[in-house]
Formats: sequence, structure tokens, C-alpha cells
Amino acid sequence: MSESSEQNQSNESREERRFEPPDDLAADANVTAEAYDRAAGDRLGFWAEQAERLSWGKRWDTVLDWDDAPFAKWFVGGTLNAAYNCLDRHVEEGRGDRVALHWVGEPADDRRTLTYAELTDEVCKAANALTALGVEAGDPVAIYLPMVPEAVISMLACARIGAVHTVVFGGFSADAIVTRVTELDARVVITADGQYRRGDPSGLKPAVDKAMESCPNVRTVLVVKRTGQDVEWDDDRDQWWHDAVDGQSTEHEPQQFDSEHPLYVMYTSGSTGKPKGILHTTGGYLTQVAWTHWAVFDLKPETDVFWCTADIGWVTGHSYIVYGPLANGATQVMYEGTPDTPDKDRWWRIVEEFGVTLFYTAPTAIRACMKWGDSIPQRCDLSSLRILGSVGEPINPEAYIWYREHIGGNKAPIVDTWWQTETGAMMISPLPGVTAGKPGSAMNPLPGISGQVLDDEGKEVPDGSSGLLVLTEPWPAMLRGLWGDEERFRETYWSRFEGKYFAGDGAKKDDDGDWWLLGRVDDVMNVSGHRMSTTEIESALVSNAKVAEAAVVGASDEATGQAIVAFVILREEAGDGGEEIVQELRDHVANQIGKIARPRQIMVVPELPKTRSGKIMRRLLRDVAENREMGDATTLTDSSVMDQIKGGMSDGRSDDD
Ligand code: PRX
Repeated sequence: MSESSEQNQSNESREERRFEPPDDLAADANVTAEAYDRAAGDRLGFWAEQAERLSWGKRWDTVLDWDDAPFAKWFVGGTLNAAYNCLDRHVEEGRGDRVALHWVGEPADDRRTLTYAELTDEVCKAANALTALGVEAGDPVAIYLPMVPEAVISMLACARIGAVHTVVFGGFSADAIVTRVTELDARVVITADGQYRRGDPSGLKPAVDKAMESCPNVRTVLVVKRTGQDVEWDDDRDQWWHDAVDGQSTEHEPQQFDSEHPLYVMYTSGSTGKPKGILHTTGGYLTQVAWTHWAVFDLKPETDVFWCTADIGWVTGHSYIVYGPLANGATQVMYEGTPDTPDKDRWWRIVEEFGVTLFYTAPTAIRACMKWGDSIPQRCDLSSLRILGSVGEPINPEAYIWYREHIGGNKAPIVDTWWQTETGAMMISPLPGVTAGKPGSAMNPLPGISGQVLDDEGKEVPDGSSGLLVLTEPWPAMLRGLWGDEERFRETYWSRFEGKYFAGDGAKKDDDGDWWLLGRVDDVMNVSGHRMSTTEIESALVSNAKVAEAAVVGASDEATGQAIVAFVILREEAGDGGEEIVQELRDHVANQIGKIARPRQIMVVPELPKTRSGKIMRRLLRDVAENREMGDATTLTDSSVMDQIKGGMSDGRSDDD
């Protein structure tokens, strides 16, 4: 047998493996199989029951108003305060001494523990400080913070006073801050002097300072002191967090807001150049993040320790560090740094130190750990782990099996959770006490969620065939729109198939009816679980004076899932494209968008393949980037272009990040 057919066979047998729920978990699971039937029989009744898990100022009159589709209203007429639900009610019900956050800084002994009572006090102080700064309900506040408790405190302080937060990922550049602050017209920005990254302090405020040159409407920048490094200071605009917050009262009366009051706007990449501001509101969102966190992680708040390794700057951090776990009164770990500082066992030492029981991370991280070797996790006692989660990209069967064996000790089930910034909360995932797990499959839509796999004409494909993933019924945590762009909202998600939400992902149901996610079908790439738009990176490239034209594709990559590969045509005066210019362009993209957008490879080419209507044929470029035989090029205007590309490109490949 050849090596590759052996490989194929072992892949197949891996995919065919099936892990039944462990008996002890099944016997004591928060949710049983009955939930699927209950939700199928009365979807709105099912979600109303989950909403009852929250504390409402006024109960809703109507569960769902879908008359003005695709603009949904959930729990219409109800009022609540998201921060009260995440904090005060736990204290009032006698859980004030429970640890809410075990925070771990990157420097070895940096620890901070906040109980629910302490976190409530901090949030009340911050809410009073924001009010003193003139922030009112409905006002946007931009947050650009590292993984420090103040990130959680800021978000909840906004929620408490009804301000709408927009968190900008700390890895994004000044330009990303400008776009978001300007589009929302935020007047207050919260940041830090810096953060610890791979053992050293690195600056954050400089990016805000640069951004503020283009944001004249911002009146206050609140600065958390994290590293103590020197920072530029504008006396009229900048205030230290400790000066503004520490002296405030811990008393703050939470106001009840309408169930549809905006909670936050999270920007994410779409298939065009401009990031989309995804709007989430309060009642439905909190209902679904809390329920899914409780059900999918089988959370026992008295004994479990939950750790989600996502950054707070992404939706996973919003839903499964801040709102879901805290609404459930969970105890969590929050970690500032990278998994390999000071050593590659850092994560597993943290799991051991706090006895983490529920762990949620991305396949890219699992693949990195796999590469570092089995002996690294073996150094630590990981026996506390009882459920392992995966999110952000398809998990390949090898990574799934490794995760199960080497992190989960072959006993902790894996929950592969499919969802999106737009869906707000998990949508397709096993329930660990009910559903079996198959390596690489997210299994089934959760109770209360309805999906289909369709062909281009909108007909359901038979099991075993791949198609396009749609959601057929509204769900509580669904996006309520794109900030200020009703038309783009309809066009992007609701126009492809009448009345159905088009997710932009390919999917397949297997012969058992279990779901497999097959990656994006649009111009969105998924690099290490981060969403990137090809056109956004193309725009960044052509904004460099040396570039005449650019095309970007996501090429499959063993470590990062997909990697960014760019093809550029240089302007005459830029020369013929040596290593220097390739480096310059890679840095240029990093400066424009952020380091995560730096292309793995830039190829300087004489021409780009285009269809007769002038569209770049990315499919062919992907073939080149992945070193494959080229696909059909018959619709090219000039099919010799591909030969020119293959013959004339200079390959600026770099693995330095
Ligand atoms: O392609 C899917 C992929 O990530 C996209 C959503 O990205 P984002 O909005 O940044 O949210 C990431 C965290 C929820 C989806 O359209 N994706 C997410 N989870 C999975 C996944 N692909 C396969 N399996 C998953 N579990």
C-alpha cells in the first residue's frame, strides 16, 4: 500500500470514529435528549423557558416579533439590565464570595482574583465614572484593551448604563480604531498604556494616540495602567483609569433597559473591503449565550472552573468570557498572554493551578500544541478537565483526536461548536451528555435552532452531499442588523435564499444526518480562527504607491487552517520586485490592518487572471498558491496569463511570524 493511501485510510477510520457521551456525564447532564423534542414541538416556548433563567425588570409580552423580517425583536416589551444579570443577582442570591475571575497575567506571578462581590463593586465604580464623563444610555464607547480585568469591567460598566460598547481587538492597528470610532461616533475610548506579550511590555496607547489624530470628536481617553511604560499624554483628553474610577462609589442603581436595547457592536470582516458592524441587543442575546454556555459545557457553577482562551476583542470573548459565563455565575480563568511564554506548557500549568474543568479554544491552538509535542502537556496534571470545546474553524480529525487523547485523557468529550459573530452564540454543537462526538463534525443544530443545507437553487441537498448552510428560523442571539446599513444587511444575509439566513459557509450532512462544516464559500478567509476579507487586504495592498493591482487568496495551511497569499502587480517605477519590496508590502498590510493580516506570502506577478467580465479568478490563484494542477481556465480573457504567472512570479515567502 502506498504511503498516501495508508494515510487516506487512517484519515477515514479516524473520521468514522464515534465517541459516546461518558456515562457519568450523561447521568447528571444539565440537558437531556428531551430538549430537542421540546424545542421542535414549541420553539418559542423553549426559548421563553431559557429566558426565564435571567432576571427581568419587566417580563416580556411577546417572545418573538418577526413581522418586520429580517429585523427580529425578541422578548418584546421585556426590560432587563445585562450587568445586573451578570453580577448583582449572584451577590443578592448569596454567591458574592464565589470567584468570578482568576486572572493570570503573562509575567509569572501576576495574579488577581475577583469574587462576584468584588467584580460588582468594580463595575459599579466604572459605571459611575463613565456617567461622570458624560456617557449616557445609547452612547457608543470604544474599548481597546488587553486581556486584563478592566476589559470585562469596562464592557459591563457600559452595559450597566446602557452605553453601547465596541471592542477593538488589541492586535489591530490605529486605522481599525479610526474606522470604528468614526462610524459609531464614539466620544470616549478606553485603553491601556500597554500589555505583556512574549515576556515584554508592548505599547497599546501609541496606536490610540495615532488614531486620535483622525478622531477629533473623542473627548476622553481613559488609560488603564498595566505596564507602567512611558506614554505620551494629552492633558485635555487623557485620564488615568485609576484617577477616574478608583474614587467612585460602589453604589450604582442599574436601570432596566428594553430587551432590544443595543448591547454592543462588533466589527467583523465581510466579503467586501469594509468591515461590518454587527449589532447585538440585550434580552435575546443574553438568553442564548447563557443557555448555550450552561448546556454545551454542562456547567455546574458551584464546582466548575471554565476557561475560554479567546481574546476579548472577538465575539467568542464577548459571549463566552463576559456575558454567558458571568450570567451563569461561573468561575473562570482569564489569561493575558501567549501560550508559550515563558514556556510551551504555560496553558497546561494554568489548567493545573486552577483545576480548570471546562476548556474552550480554537483548532489552530490545538495544532500548535500538537506540533510542540506530546511531552509538553504530560508535564502537568490535566485530570480536572471534563469537557473540551473547539471554535472558530473546522477542526481536522487529527487535531480532534490529539486534543481528546493528550489534553482530555481520553475521557473528556469534545464539543465542536459552530457559530459566527453574526449568530452571537453557539448554533451547531453536540450536547456533551446527549450527543455522540465524531472527529471533525459539529454534529447537530442545538435545540431551538433550525438549519438546512441547500444547493444553489435553494433545494435541500441529500445527506452525503455538500451545499450551503442556511438558518431557517430566527434565533434569540441573532444580529439585529449592520450598524447604519440596512441594505447591506438584507443583501449579505437574506437575499440569496428568500426568508433564510445565508451564513457564508459550506456544509454537509452525513448519512447519519450529522453536520460537517466545510469552510467559507465567499471571499472571507479564516486564518487561525480569525476572519479576514480578501478584498480588505487587497485594498491595503493597493494603498501602497508601488502596487498597481493585487489579488488575495486563502491557501490551505497546516498550522493556521488558511494562510493569506497575495499576488501583486507592481507599478513600473517600483522595479521588478525583490525581497525588499515584498517585505515592505507585508509590513504595509500589518500597519494598515494589524499583524494578523500580514500575508504569509506575496508573489509579484506580471498579470492577474480575469474573467471576461473583469473578475479576478481567485480559484486559479488558489491552485497556484497551493501548488496544485490548475483548474479550468476557459473563461479567462487570455489564458496565457496563468503561464505568465507561473513563469514570472517571484516568490516572497516568509515564515517569520
Ligand atoms: O466559517 C465559519 C468559521 O468561522 C466563521 C465565523 O467567524 P467569526 O465570526 O469570526 O466567529 C468565530 C467564532 C464564533 C464561520 O462562518 N467557524 C466558526 N466555528 C466553526 C467554524 N467552522 C467550522 N467549525 C466550527 N466549529
